[in-house]
Amino acid sequence: MTGTDDLHFDPKRSRIAVIGAGTMGAGIADVFVRAGYTTHLCDASQTTVDRAVETWKTRLKKDAEKGKISASQAAEWKDRLLTCTPDTLPVAQLYIEAIVELPDVKQQLFGRLEELAGGNAILATNTSSLPVTALAHTLRHPDRLVGMHFFNPALLMPLVEVISGEATHPDVAQSIFNLVQQIGKCPVMVRDEPGFLVNRVARPYYTESLLLVEEQTASLEQVDRLLESRGFRMGPFRLMDLIGVDVNFSVTSSLHERFYGEPRFRPSRLQARKVAAGQHGRKTGVGFYRYDPPPSP
Ligand code: NAI
Repeated sequence: MTGTDDLHFDPKRSRIAVIGAGTMGAGIADVFVRAGYTTHLCDASQTTVDRAVETWKTRLKKDAEKGKISASQAAEWKDRLLTCTPDTLPVAQLYIEAIVELPDVKQQLFGRLEELAGGNAILATNTSSLPVTALAHTLRHPDRLVGMHFFNPALLMPLVEVISGEATHPDVAQSIFNLVQQIGKCPVMVRDEPGFLVNRVARPYYTESLLLVEEQTASLEQVDRLLESRGFRMGPFRLMDLIGVDVNFSVTSSLHERFYGEPRFRPSRLQARKVAAGQHGRKTGVGFYRYDPPPSP
C-alpha cells in the first residue's frame, strides 16, 4: 500500500466520485456535496444521471423557496455537483461505488478505477450483501477496498457501516470511519460477515411479514399499519418499496446462500414474483403499492 498521507480527506482539496446515480448513488452524492466536497456523479446511463441531477436541483429550488436553505447555499451546492460518464471519470481520492448488485460488474468497475487512480485512491463499495473480500480479491491493491454502506435515504439516515474485508488496510477503514464522522454521520466498524450488521438483524422484519401475507394471516396493509402504529417509521412493505423490492430480494437471497440455506433467511416466493414482474417499488411505479409512474426513460 502507498503512504498514508493520501488517506487524509480535505473537503477543499479532495475530489470524490460516486458511481451509480440510482436510488443510493444520487443520495450519497447529495451528502458529500452538502458536506463541502466537489462530487462527481456518474452512471452508465446518461438518462439516469441527468434525471438524478434534475430531481435534486428541483428539490433544492423548493427548499430555497420554502426558506429551508438560502438561495446562495443552493447555488453553491449546485456548482459542487458535477456529472460524468464512465469514460470521463476523473482521478479522485475516493470512489464510492453504488452500482447494480452484481459481483462481476462491480469487480470490473473497481479494476478500471484502480487503473485510473494508479493505486492511489480509496475504493469504497456500498454493497448491501456482497462480501467485500470477494470484491477485492481481483484487485492489485485489495487493501484499498472498503465497504461504506449507507442506508436509504442516504441524506436522512445517520448510520454508515464501514466494512473491512480480509485485505482492507486498517488505515483505509479508519480514514473512511473518520470521514463518515466528518460529514456528520454515525459510522460503525463491522466485519465482512453476511448481511454485515444491519441487514442481518433486519431480515426477519421482511421475511416474517412476507410469510404472514403469503399465509393470509393478514394483508400487507394490515402488517404495515400494525408495525407503524407500534413505532416503526415505515412498515415492511412500504419500506421494501422504498429500498427496491429487487434490491431487498437480492439481499435476502444472498444471506440465505451465504448461510448455506439457513431457513431463517429463506427468500419469499411472493417477493420473487414481484421481482419477476418488474414491480420493484417506487422506482418502477408499482411494488407492493402503486405510485405515480416514474418519468419515462
Ligand atoms: P439502482 O438500481 O437504483 O441504481 C444502480 C445504478 O447503477 C443504475 O442507475 C445503473 O444504471 C447504474 N450502473 C449499473 N452498472 C453500472 C456501471 N458498470 N457503471 C456505472 N453505472 C452503472 O440501485 P441502488 O438501489 O441505488 O443500489 C446500488 C447499490 O447500493 C447496490 O449495491 C445495493 O445493494 C446498495 N444499497 C441499496 C440500498 C437501497 O435501499 N436501495 C441501501 C443500501 C445499499
